[in-house]
Amino acid sequence: MAAVKIADSVYAVGVLNPGLRVFDIVMKTEFGTTYNAYLVVGSDKTALIETCHRTYFEHFVENIESICPIEKIDYVILNHNEPDHSGALAALLEHNPKMTVVASQAGSLYLKNITNRSDIQFKVVKDGETLSLGNKTLRFINAPFLHWPDSMFTWLEEDRVLFSCDFLGSHYCEPYMFDYNITYPSKYEEAFKGYYDAIFGPFGSYVLKGLEKIKDLDIDFVCPSHGPIITRGCRLDYVRECYERWSQPIVHETKVIPIFYTSAYGNTRLIAQAIEKGIRSVLPDADTETYDIIDYDMGSLGRMLNQSDAFALGSPTINRDAVPPAWMLLSHVDAIGCAKKPCLVFGSYGWSGEAVPNLTARLNGLKMSVFGEGMKVCFVPSEEDLEKATQLGADFAASLK
Ligand code: FEO
Repeated sequence: MAAVKIADSVYAVGVLNPGLRVFDIVMKTEFGTTYNAYLVVGSDKTALIETCHRTYFEHFVENIESICPIEKIDYVILNHNEPDHSGALAALLEHNPKMTVVASQAGSLYLKNITNRSDIQFKVVKDGETLSLGNKTLRFINAPFLHWPDSMFTWLEEDRVLFSCDFLGSHYCEPYMFDYNITYPSKYEEAFKGYYDAIFGPFGSYVLKGLEKIKDLDIDFVCPSHGPIITRGCRLDYVRECYERWSQPIVHETKVIPIFYTSAYGNTRLIAQAIEKGIRSVLPDADTETYDIIDYDMGSLGRMLNQSDAFALGSPTINRDAVPPAWMLLSHVDAIGCAKKPCLVFGSYGWSGEAVPNLTARLNGLKMSVFGEGMKVCFVPSEEDLEKATQLGADFAASLK
């Protein structure tokens, strides 16, 4: 993609990556992505907002230099410093070591380790601080945890452009940059929701604070760092309304306590069912069901776990450990949203029974609140074992009241 004009002396100079199918190892990107960056040419100074993934540096430089030489850039502003935005900074500094790097306090600390350069001239900016480019003024708006501690927005006052980095972005690639040119709106909306779920879902309260901070801005363009530019009169109201709706706290009328398990010979399943019986004995209205992990889509189980009030997890022990489906489920945990979430661990074993302590250690590592020692049963649960499992479920439920 060549540079695209957005407003007077404001250009998109980022790079398209339509073929990307997995982002950051784990995130599917069926519609590719874009690494957006923007150039603001003021009467006195020129600012580049974001860089890009280092892999696309040459193309990125071509786009910038179609507008102005790299040597003419005075400031590079990094609203957020994950390497898909900061990865090309070190190479850019090789071309122009005189650039001042503008970032939040946290961002400046991250950038020292991302670039491994000790000679960067930083301008650390605070919430509300402004930077004049002559006839254009940039204002910085702290946006912590949207989605890293370093995150901020940059507001171009005269042209009413909000550079929002990941916020309101999407992993969606079409060549024409603006939302009113999107050829496949339903695909964009799918990508927009998937992006919100993956990146901002754990930070709902911060999303609401971020929306509040920008609500009085008279925005014409939101320029995110991935996906189409969002414009007044097209999708601006839509994207803000979506973020607001999706970020509302989830309120359950009754407690939601799923019981996840996997079972080689049905023994861990029997414990799961006994725990369910115990939970129901204390919380008869609770939404509690058993789920054999291998029968369900892992993403939907992960969402269920993340949105639950508490949960139980069972695994047999194979090769001195819990089995991979149990670990896979835990790889979907929203560690921030699930901090202190009550949980219970159980499982049948044959020889040594490491699954329960290993899962317990992992859940403790995720800062969850693990109930007691959990329950291990050697081979087939006896009637007495099942009574104990039922009592354990009842005690767990009682602890949730
Ligand atoms: Fe697009 Fe959080 O980086």
